[in-house]
Amino acid sequence: MALRNRIEVMHGVNLDQLGRRDPAHYGTITLDELELRIRSFARDLGLEARFFRTNHEGEFVERLHRLEGLADGLLLNPGAWSHYSYAIRDALELTGLPAVEVHLSDVKRREDWRQVSVIRDLCLTSVSGQGVE
Ligand code: DQA
Repeated sequence: MALRNRIEVMHGVNLDQLGRRDPAHYGTITLDELELRIRSFARDLGLEARFFRTNHEGEFVERLHRLEGLADGLLLNPGAWSHYSYAIRDALELTGLPAVEVHLSDVKRREDWRQVSVIRDLCLTSVSGQGVE
């Protein structure tokens, strides 16, 4: 059986600003450093991580459209889009891929609008408040 170990790691709006954002929520790590850490975690698990980042919702959607045959699973942190983007939700559903939603900060203990996730029910699980871990 072919290996199914290709994980697409997708970071959305404002995640490229890690290192400048409120350290109380996001720590001090930059996105480059975070991706290096994820690559190494993935390697330890026998997974091949590929990365995509953008501040443009349409680009995020189009990346999801193009994943067929390129990825076996998804790890995604769409940032604020998680809370309201039905466009990203629809595109995620189209991929049919197993997905995990990630938030670095503890969105459950922040503002009310961050408690809503329009992608959560499409994901195997949702991880928040664990920072880099
Ligand atoms: C975030 C949480 C979102 O509410 C916020 O808009 C972000 C980052 C997180 O990783 O904690 O940009 O997704």
